Amino acid sequence: MPMEFAVECKGVIKDFGTGSVRQRVLHGIDWQVPIGATTFLVGPSGCGKTTLISIIAGLLSATEGYVRILDQEITKMRRSRVVRFRADHLGYIFQQFNLLPSLTAVENAAVSLVVQGVTLATAKRQASVLLDRLGMESNKLKYPNQLSGGQQQRVAIARALVHNPKIVISDEPTASLDAETGHEVMELLGQVASGADRAVIVVTHDNRIFPFADYIATMSDGRIESFRKNSA
Ligand SMILES: Nc1ncnc2c1ncn2[C@@H]1O[C@H](COP(=O)(O)OP(=O)(O)OP(=O)(O)O)[C@@H](O)[C@H]1O
Ligand SMILES: [Mg+2]
Repeated sequence: MPMEFAVECKGVIKDFGTGSVRQRVLHGIDWQVPIGATTFLVGPSGCGKTTLISIIAGLLSATEGYVRILDQEITKMRRSRVVRFRADHLGYIFQQFNLLPSLTAVENAAVSLVVQGVTLATAKRQASVLLDRLGMESNKLKYPNQLSGGQQQRVAIARALVHNPKIVISDEPTASLDAETGHEVMELLGQVASGADRAVIVVTHDNRIFPFADYIATMSDGRIESFRKNSA
């Protein structure tokens, strides 16, 4: 039977801290992310967007509830399986980029292929092609601290896409980019999303890229308030 949803969240609760400093950040999220589409997740700062997508991507554990992604319950997987699952199927673009400071741009972008067992030379070749597409031709041998915010963001995007993952989850992928580069990035993400077993989730405040959304989920105070098809 074909998959119905790329991601299915059921009753996802997340508490941070313990005792008197305990804070409930997600209040029982029920959410189904369509397959073959780009879904935006929007909402005010601090409403829980990064927390939710971190749980979906297996980077953070849920306090209660479950997440199925590509028909597998990631919230139940052992740590080693989560790592493997992420390497095989997920691309994650971090809000703070999280580049490795001692690797060049092209080496950083190649990391997701290297962890899959691809040789370094091949991985760097493929990473290089993607960086070219993102307008990074002349910056590939620079280290992260020699790159602007927008350039670091493009390296983080290349790293998340280079291994051709089925699901890409991105936290503000265009926040540091000019309009033209932002459009190029969204076109790349749109290509990733347009497969029968694929999907892209984009957390964003950037209304310049709203036309690229197929669906929009609005979050507020730890809850999904609305979920609709994008008519824009
Ligand atoms: N590791 C943590 N420990 C304690 N509290 C946390 C932690 N991570 C996030 N929070 C809290 O959880 C809430 C939601 O944070 P989150 O980062 O998910 O928000 P967000 O919607 O992504 O915001 P922004 O748009 O600013 O990125 C905030 O109140 C934040 O302070
Ligand atoms: Mg965030």
